Amino acid sequence: ASRERLLVVANRLPVSAVRRGVDSWHLEISVGGLVSALLGVKEFETRWIGWAGVNVPDEIGQRALIKALAEKRCIPVFLDEEIVHQYYNGYCNNILWPLFHYLGLPQEDRLATTRSFQSQFDAYKKANQMFAEVVKEHYVEGDVVWCHDYHLMFLPKCLKERNRKMKVGWFLHTPFPSSEIHRTLPSRLELLRSVLAADLVGFHTYDYARHFVSACTRILGLEGTPEGVEDQGRLTRVAAFPIGIDSDRFIRALELPQVQDHMKELKERFAGRKGILMQICEQFIELLMVNVNNCKVMLGVDRLDMIKGIPQKILAFEKFLEENPNWRDKVVLLQIAVPTRTDVPEYQKLTSQVHEIVGRINGRFGTLTAVPIHHLDRSLDFHALCALYAVTDVALVTSLRDGMNLVSYEFVACQASKKGVLILRAAQSLGAGAILVNPWNVTEVASSIGYALNMPADEREKRHHHNFVHVTTHTSQEWAATFVSELNDTIVEAQLRT
Ligand code: UDP
Ligand code: G6P
Repeated sequence: ASRERLLVVANRLPVSAVRRGVDSWHLEISVGGLVSALLGVKEFETRWIGWAGVNVPDEIGQRALIKALAEKRCIPVFLDEEIVHQYYNGYCNNILWPLFHYLGLPQEDRLATTRSFQSQFDAYKKANQMFAEVVKEHYVEGDVVWCHDYHLMFLPKCLKERNRKMKVGWFLHTPFPSSEIHRTLPSRLELLRSVLAADLVGFHTYDYARHFVSACTRILGLEGTPEGVEDQGRLTRVAAFPIGIDSDRFIRALELPQVQDHMKELKERFAGRKGILMQICEQFIELLMVNVNNCKVMLGVDRLDMIKGIPQKILAFEKFLEENPNWRDKVVLLQIAVPTRTDVPEYQKLTSQVHEIVGRINGRFGTLTAVPIHHLDRSLDFHALCALYAVTDVALVTSLRDGMNLVSYEFVACQASKKGVLILRAAQSLGAGAILVNPWNVTEVASSIGYALNMPADEREKRHHHNFVHVTTHTSQEWAATFVSELNDTIVEAQLRT
């Protein structure tokens, strides 16, 4: 039987394009949880529709890029610089993203934002219309159209206006805030109404789904039911679908010779070779001065985003070093901080803030041959990342708020032999096996670091087992299959009702 066709529509394509010549393109895997989770989904005949992360004003370039992306089953939406500035940098990442994560804007930005709001929202709607046009062009009757994330809240409505029979689902990869927060958005009504045009609306957690339903009842005055939201007899189904990872991909990767080699190198390095070059992979060469025996490795892997609590994490590590002089030459914190949304001023500020803190702490606790924090502003390829996860003793995930953090899952998937400890912001779904912390409480995180580093093997094993079972049974494949089958059921039920 042929597989069901799935059109995945997301702002970010799984590959981002870098121009190499007039008609030649280089494609790189994009970084982010949405892309990682969806790349694991194999049981559908999938086409991706989205932005390749680059401005292509000329036709030759566009034609070449369309061709290059087709090999990856990707279809580009071409957004010009002005739209990207207003829609992506402005409305999506300066307004919706902080709001959905309960992070307020600084006062001076808030006023500026109020002024630029209307033009940004217009650009947002226009961009969503452009996505809808590309979907329409590639849609075949019977396709499931699955829209993703806060960039495309206007899309379900645009699609249904073009074709009422299209099966449309929408999934949010971030938290959905309490209706009291959503209320502060000038476009609050329009966004909710457009999302409600979908047949099925999904969230990571039951709480986020509940927030959405209550925003619809309180702000739009609609009726919320256990099934979803009803408007004049039409039901939009609302439910929670916790995401996961393709855990097998990580487990299998650890067997590969190149990953084994990386691991060996890293282990030797951290076991006490003096101030030499660390080489995780060919394109990743950094000077790492570790001059200790049996050094423990703590790891953070995040996009350099304010929701990830990177300054808070580093300050907690400082406090730990301050209070535990005996650990100072026995532990390093390796922080991979992937540059992200670099045209948005808040992100630029964060980068310099983090650099300043890291510099200060390394100045304070470093020696001639070793520094406690290795902070890298870059991304790693998949194999290097797996090797790093596997040799880590303690992973630190201190997001202030996060949709569903996948780095924590990936770390667990790679820890079958080491059985390291996960320190995690409370209220993520890996509750039982992790040490849960409030990332704002530096004292608590610092003492959790001590607890994790000193944890006896039997407790580590027990905790790891808990996490491992969760990660290998709640996979991205299962997430996608459940969402799509729920969408199909919802449509059949709606037909029966009319
Ligand atoms: N990631 C990556 N390369 C890196 C660092 C991270 O591909 O150098 C991936 C990581 O494997 C994970 C994703 O980026 O799948 C981050 O997802 P997460 O849900 O933790 O956070 P998000 O970036 O979506 O907010
Ligand atoms: C989060 C969002 C995704 C986004 C990713 C990376 O995971 O939910 O929609 O793709 O961050 O951010 P970027 O702005 O680079 O796409």
